[in-house]
Amino acid sequence: MAAPSITQNPDIRFLGRVLGDVIRETSGEALFRRIEYIRSTSVDRARGILSGDSIASGLESLGLDDMLAFVRGFMLFSMLANLAEDRQGVAAEPEADLAHALARLEAKGLDRAAVMALLERALIVPVLTAHPTEVRRKSMIDHRNHIAELMALRDRGVAETASGDRVEDAIARQVALLWQTRALRRERLFVADEIDTVLAYLREVFLPALPALYARWDRALGARAPSFLRVGNWIGGDRDGNPYVNAETLRLVLARAAEAVLAYYLEGVHELGAELSISTELAAVTPELAALAEAAQDPGRARGDEPYRRALTGLYARLAATYQALTGQAPPRAARVSGEPYADPAAFRADLVTIAQSLRAGAGALATGGKLSRLIRAVDCFGFHLATLDLRQNADVHERVVGELLAHAGVTPDYATLDEAERIALLRRELASPRLLASPFARYSDETLSELAIVRAAAEAQARYGAGCIQIYNISKSESVSDLLEVHVLLKEAGLYRPGEGEAPPEARIMAVPLFETIADLQNAPDVMRAWFALPEIGALARARGHQEVMVGYSDSNKDGGYLTSVWSLHRAGQALAPVFEEAGVTMQLFHGRGGAVGRGGGSSFAAILAQPPGSVQGRIRITEQGEVIAAKYGTPESAATNLEAMASATLLASLEAPALSAADQARFGDAMARISEAAFASYRDLVYGTEGFRHFFRQITPLPEIAGLKIGSRPASRTKSDRIEDLRAIPWVFSWAQARIMLPGWYGVGDALAAFGDMALLREMVEAWPFLASTLANMEMVLAKSDLAIAEHYLPLVEDRAAAEAIFGRIKAGWSRAHDSLLAITRQTRLLEKHPSLDASIRLRLPYIEPLNLLQVELLKRHRAGEDDPRIREGIELSINAIATALRNSG
Ligand code: PGA
Repeated sequence: MAAPSITQNPDIRFLGRVLGDVIRETSGEALFRRIEYIRSTSVDRARGILSGDSIASGLESLGLDDMLAFVRGFMLFSMLANLAEDRQGVAAEPEADLAHALARLEAKGLDRAAVMALLERALIVPVLTAHPTEVRRKSMIDHRNHIAELMALRDRGVAETASGDRVEDAIARQVALLWQTRALRRERLFVADEIDTVLAYLREVFLPALPALYARWDRALGARAPSFLRVGNWIGGDRDGNPYVNAETLRLVLARAAEAVLAYYLEGVHELGAELSISTELAAVTPELAALAEAAQDPGRARGDEPYRRALTGLYARLAATYQALTGQAPPRAARVSGEPYADPAAFRADLVTIAQSLRAGAGALATGGKLSRLIRAVDCFGFHLATLDLRQNADVHERVVGELLAHAGVTPDYATLDEAERIALLRRELASPRLLASPFARYSDETLSELAIVRAAAEAQARYGAGCIQIYNISKSESVSDLLEVHVLLKEAGLYRPGEGEAPPEARIMAVPLFETIADLQNAPDVMRAWFALPEIGALARARGHQEVMVGYSDSNKDGGYLTSVWSLHRAGQALAPVFEEAGVTMQLFHGRGGAVGRGGGSSFAAILAQPPGSVQGRIRITEQGEVIAAKYGTPESAATNLEAMASATLLASLEAPALSAADQARFGDAMARISEAAFASYRDLVYGTEGFRHFFRQITPLPEIAGLKIGSRPASRTKSDRIEDLRAIPWVFSWAQARIMLPGWYGVGDALAAFGDMALLREMVEAWPFLASTLANMEMVLAKSDLAIAEHYLPLVEDRAAAEAIFGRIKAGWSRAHDSLLAITRQTRLLEKHPSLDASIRLRLPYIEPLNLLQVELLKRHRAGEDDPRIREGIELSINAIATALRNSG
């Protein structure tokens, strides 16, 4: 396919041409011509050369088989265009690296010591989750990554691959593979599949990327950087609404992660053995190294004068024994397993440090940098567990389980009927008592048995892999102190919470973390945390630990209160929590639960971190990375390094720079924002929750039911059978609005509120001075640019109640225009993205590819919903969902 000329990106042209050639060669000239006709008319229409009907005519002449081929063709073009853009850094932030952040801080008078002091206490963690928004199969992503590697060779002017193929032929071959690979998953996805996927990222991307990134940071800082950046994982531990996640998956993911990280260390030690051929005849070694070499009992006589190699043989044997002990498997290479397993990562690290110190004493320059430093760094970051696994469950489940335990133990027959004060008193009594609740003789429900099995498996895992393997227990739908105490009660059953003895505070080996996710819960969060710290034993526990995490949910607060109120409530929560933590003498660690789409907190992480309220980022931050975002940001070690560095430098700046606003402006802007948010909330709630028939309208105008059938995640699309919007998970909510190009969660209510506010001068002042409002509106602008209500209108006939459909759609359209007009007025633009030319070009390139997909989707939805049962119709719908999601670059 030839790419339209709006793009200046030569890679997009090149890959588009290759794809066109592949289609012609493999599927014939006739199909190529039909697809090309639709493409070129669509492009011409986007340029205003043709009228709207010309597209439909091209589509109508397609039979079902050709339709499927056309959708795949457009999907692949979008995928290749995304790849080309990612390579050219369209998505990357300018100046988002540590060196720039340090220079910026230095220019403001902050010296290196202040930076180092912050980094010593810092913790920055991207947490990978299985949220079902990645529509592409792993095989497709793998082909895509191979193309990216080949494109990098092509850039460097390399004509042949290492195996002797011409680079351009190899690219064409990969594109042909993409074209002939089934895009849809046929079988359902199991948690074990999700574990496979996350392990592939951890092993192939994070393991090599982090130590290399730290080597760069060590140079930028002129000192060894503290190991403040780690990786987190939810897959295998997040069981909120996913009955398939249980103690078994927890064991599986941790065992596989340990295998991966220990195999990596074995390989590293092996490579060091090849490298450190230093002879005692030519360099001195420390007595400690000599002892380590001696202890290795390496039978290799030829290496008598090579103590490093002998020492490393010993390390290897001990590591192999560790591998066997922890994973129950034989180590990957046939290895001597005679050594004694390392008790913990610290013991292994100590041996590596002995080697490093000896090198430093004997060989100066050899001791710095290089494989050994990277290996030590890897041990610091990954331990024996690779990524920290979080547990997550819904507060309602804990309430039921604790209720059942209390009832069986004869403590109280009906915990659910107690009020909050009674619950707190009772749970604290339980926590203070050394007695456990669970009895081997009681007959518990499956739910309770499963929850007990989880905490017990977590305790075993900590004993096996070290405390770093699981540290946090997130509680969805948290609203009260008792929600947190209930988790302590469960942890106590597994010995993970112990009452303090005498004056000593209690000990919690896993931190209970509330996830506040509705507007009301976000507003109450500071009160809940104040009450939490006010419990003397909890205050003491938190102070002894030094920090406490609070998680905030972007998607659910958006579904509850609309875009503006959601982002404002999240901002306010961070702002209002900061003094609560300060009073308690505990460092706050915010965990941002956000997805890729703007309605779920998407948008630039760099800008989002910088826009956090003053005092809410104190070097500690965790952020979920989900679905399609994982491949986009962490597809290769290089892109992972870029994105991780952006996250680290933004955190550094947000923690150390003086606030962007004076306290007076903060208060003035905050007052204005509170009023705007109130109006936006009213407008959004009125439409979504206060309009008769809205629920049906939503279910029919979007492909919601069809999205629920996609095989893209192991968890069910809904927690309950109810079709209330309140009960729908946030992902399908955002996902389906995006498909119909309405994208309501990214803007609805904002236009009404801004128009009603009226004070344009103040709004302009705010957007210019306040990173929070600037990034809020920038994200909304992107959504407005990707939405298209003229296309959405084609979905309208899918709604049975025509009168209601017209009325609701009319309100949506009017709301969109108000959002659009106010945004342009505030940002002084004449059209969307006027001030963001590269994003504008990127979106404009995609639009002509999305429109025919939308039109086809509507057609197929009509036929499907009318009862036509040709399986190609269902397949076409699912393919079109994939293709539109790929072209829009965020699913849900
Ligand atoms: P959750 O996630 O439903 O798992 O809480 C919501 C989201 O990420 O959109």
